[in-house]
Amino acid sequence: MRISRKGENCSAGSATSARVIKENLDEYDVSAKYYDIWTEDLVDDMAFYEQLAETTGSPILECMCGTGRLLIPLAKKKQKVTGVDRSTAMLDCLTAKLDLLDDETQSRIDVIHDDVRTFKTKERFKLAIIPFNSFLHLLETEDQESALNNIRKHLSRDGLLSMSVFNPKLDRAERVVRHDGTKLTAQGEIISKFECQTFDQPSQRTTVHFFYDISRQDRQLRRVTTTFTLRYLFHREAMDLLMRCGFDVLEVYGDYDFSPFKKTSDFMIFVARKAR
Ligand SMILES: C[S@@+](CC[C@H](N)C(=O)[O-])C[C@H]1O[C@@H](n2cnc3c(N)ncnc32)[C@H](O)[C@@H]1O
Repeated sequence: MRISRKGENCSAGSATSARVIKENLDEYDVSAKYYDIWTEDLVDDMAFYEQLAETTGSPILECMCGTGRLLIPLAKKKQKVTGVDRSTAMLDCLTAKLDLLDDETQSRIDVIHDDVRTFKTKERFKLAIIPFNSFLHLLETEDQESALNNIRKHLSRDGLLSMSVFNPKLDRAERVVRHDGTKLTAQGEIISKFECQTFDQPSQRTTVHFFYDISRQDRQLRRVTTTFTLRYLFHREAMDLLMRCGFDVLEVYGDYDFSPFKKTSDFMIFVARKAR
């Protein structure tokens, strides 16, 4: 396993010694600790990426890999995977989990602490994936293009890219408030997650506030909040963007069962090939 921190070359090292140093707080710094608790049931996309990876083979690049929700299962399926993420806190969660893996699985994983727009590695990948709306963190067209151009440079000849984002529905409410659920942690904490989401159609942005209410029977209620903004994409816009950045779009799926995209689909899952 190699972990490269921002501004350093890749180096071999144990996960524990490779903790990344805190820089500026980003939107995941506060919520990283709760990310895995909240995504433990999110498994629908796993078989999709495993199947794609079986088709292309290794090495695989997971852009914006976070805590390794997909990266670790892919490595366990014998794929060689490199994850890129800019969040120190998310990567701290990932490296803590890597410590628990056997040496062989660890040896198939590399982690780069960097921005998807600018990271560099000499490796060339057969498949790059950008799962779970992560691409929508790129708010400006120039950010989106920088990321896609940089990813394309890191693909081998005929390498594939798969990107999954939600399909924005124009009739959706401009404000959504909901209770996402309540979980009991192994430490006996009760965590309730609430979400307020606003959609700003002219700027094509949605701002999400998560409120984590953490309680124990013997302690006072504690609230942790986090906010982030996503720039959502429409189908045609995403197709144009991919083509402009040197990709031939091969398929657009509407769900992780490989069913075709329809206007009512919940997801837009693009599979594109690096253009020659
Ligand atoms: C929704 S999480 C997804 C994590 C993981 N891929 C998954 O499916 O569970 C989005 C991730 O994107 C990362 N991220 C956001 N902007 C980024 C950027 N410009 N470069 C690299 N990582 C970024 C965040 O730090 C976060 O870990």
